[in-house]
Amino acid sequence: MAVREVITVGHPTLRQVAEPVKTLTPEVRTLIADMIETMHAYRGVGLAAVQVNVPLRVIVVHVPEDEEIPGSGPVYVMLNPVIARRSRDTERDMEGCLSVPGYIGEVERARRIIVRGLDEHGKRYELDVEGYVARVFQHEIDHLNGILYTDRLTSMEKLYPVAQGEEEAAELEQAQKG
Ligand code: NI
Repeated sequence: MAVREVITVGHPTLRQVAEPVKTLTPEVRTLIADMIETMHAYRGVGLAAVQVNVPLRVIVVHVPEDEEIPGSGPVYVMLNPVIARRSRDTERDMEGCLSVPGYIGEVERARRIIVRGLDEHGKRYELDVEGYVARVFQHEIDHLNGILYTDRLTSMEKLYPVAQGEEEAAELEQAQKG
């Protein structure tokens, strides 16, 4: 396993529509392991393969269940994720992105979603998630379609500078505050 470099805004891969994973090759398995390691190393709560410059439909999500306990809560791996249902009610909250260093911004997302895809063994599964976890899934799936959260800001005035490396930590604090 290895920590990979996270590409940032301006890199063309971030604007590409990623390709579905067709076979769980050794390369894809290594990619998944590296993505989890990279997400943790960068203190992120989610990562899409495009962010490590691999245009495949792979995401990882790890939102700590308890902020006091590092590593708590499930690590989700999803290949070819599809949002099957989204709640009509939405929520506005702050988001950050490892590919947009130095900023967080307010985005409106569905409060609850049902998301379907394949796990790291190629087995189909479905999740019914809400709140912050649902937000992270929507953010990561956007990446697979070349969309950044900055495309979805509720207003240009709702983009705030933060210390580099604090994008997702600040986001989490905000989310947990309220
Ligand atoms: Ni992101």
